Amino acid sequence: MFRTQILKTAPKELSHYTSRLNPGIGRAHKLLLDRGQGSYLYDASGKKYLDLACGIGVTNLGHCHPRLVKVVQNQAAKLWHGQLCHGVHTAMADLIEEMQTILPEQLNSLMFSSTGAEAVETALKIARSSTGRQNVVVMQGGFHGRTNACLSLTTSKYVYAQTTRPLMPGVVVAPPPYATQLHIDNDTDVEVMSKRCLAVLEDLIHQASHPSEVAMLLVEPVLGEGGYLPLPAVYLRGLRQVCDKYGILLTFDEVQTGFMRTGSFFAFNQFQVMPDILIFAKGIANGLPLAGVATRQEIANKCPVGTHGGTYAGNALACASAAEVIRVMKEEKIFDNVAERNVQFMDALKNFAREPNSPITEIRGRGLMIGIQFDAAAGFASAVVNAAVERGLVLLNTSKYEVLRLIPPLNITKEETDEALQKLFDSIRAVSKDFKVTSNGGSVKPCCPTACYGGNQPCRWLRV
Ligand SMILES: Cc1ncc(COP(=O)(O)O)c(C=O)c1O
Repeated sequence: MFRTQILKTAPKELSHYTSRLNPGIGRAHKLLLDRGQGSYLYDASGKKYLDLACGIGVTNLGHCHPRLVKVVQNQAAKLWHGQLCHGVHTAMADLIEEMQTILPEQLNSLMFSSTGAEAVETALKIARSSTGRQNVVVMQGGFHGRTNACLSLTTSKYVYAQTTRPLMPGVVVAPPPYATQLHIDNDTDVEVMSKRCLAVLEDLIHQASHPSEVAMLLVEPVLGEGGYLPLPAVYLRGLRQVCDKYGILLTFDEVQTGFMRTGSFFAFNQFQVMPDILIFAKGIANGLPLAGVATRQEIANKCPVGTHGGTYAGNALACASAAEVIRVMKEEKIFDNVAERNVQFMDALKNFAREPNSPITEIRGRGLMIGIQFDAAAGFASAVVNAAVERGLVLLNTSKYEVLRLIPPLNITKEETDEALQKLFDSIRAVSKDFKVTSNGGSVKPCCPTACYGGNQPCRWLRV
């Protein structure tokens, strides 16, 4: 209904512009977006949408946060672009100071870039320069970006690189310890599964490579495109041990999980495993293009002068926004809101999932990075996305499985969360009428009996 109205108000405009963009772009919606304010997006006809996608986990402080608008306006009147080759601009100096307050002391060498993919490629260059090795181990279902090297490291969907092969060689793909992905019984013990997957990983390091040829092990602590799968702490600690054993650089891609998305500045803060290389992007500047890599000085020191740079690397407007993002996150106690809204989402979803004939088989995630897995025919999750936008709710699905992902603003209010949940449930109920769904009725269990990451929030992985 909503979509018809949008097309009525702007039929020419929408098709006119989409027809002039590359048809290879994947689209979940057909919206002509005009502005955003807080947790809401507005289309060109003035229609309002509650945004539970945040531009794929980018606008973590909502749209046009007044403090960010102000610093960006001030910076725009001062300096837009200051080339790295000339030195450092004051917006970057400010950001370096703020980054030091949220990064562990060891990760004291930074390199900024504009996109997540660029940052992943920077990490690859650093790992190869530092180790003198070539190969990379990645997780099955991982997503690391759309440039050629990043596509070589991405295994979430074949289509991303379908027509651009051959890809970069030397990539070893390891299975994540997750029942759905391993096609084993849902009740398999997490520790057992983690140990088995670590053993397979070691086999692969010897069979598909040689340990002395592996530069880095690249992993998202919560697989994003892989289905919003929080990797268990026991497994992540095991990865650290494997890397230490073979001199491999453990690299966390926190492009999506970073900047408070999972309830702490970085997901790794919660499970006490220190990466050698950390990749960040998305939420750092709340929508201005900024990304980067943090590593230890002795690793970075192996990069010859001239290795890194970039026309827009560490753009001044983006750096100004990023430094303020960090201050706002601390001062507005975003950490507390993420914890409270996590409980609100999880409890409501759990209750809904227990209704008779519910299509939901699992709810999982950390902080405000929540995945809902359906046991339903293919296309169910995207049908829910379409039903939701008609009700004024922007959602995304993810992975090759039938999974919805909820990525709300981290400062979403209790009332907005209620509104989102109501619209979500209405959409799932409406779509369930048209799809074959398998009823559930199993038990609800967390992924670990204790706090999964050894942090202060248990990993919420609920089987229903
Ligand atoms: C985990 C992860 N890594 C890398 C990327 C690539 O980032 P970008 O799209 O900014 O290049 C993404 C983007 O979704 C991501 O989720």
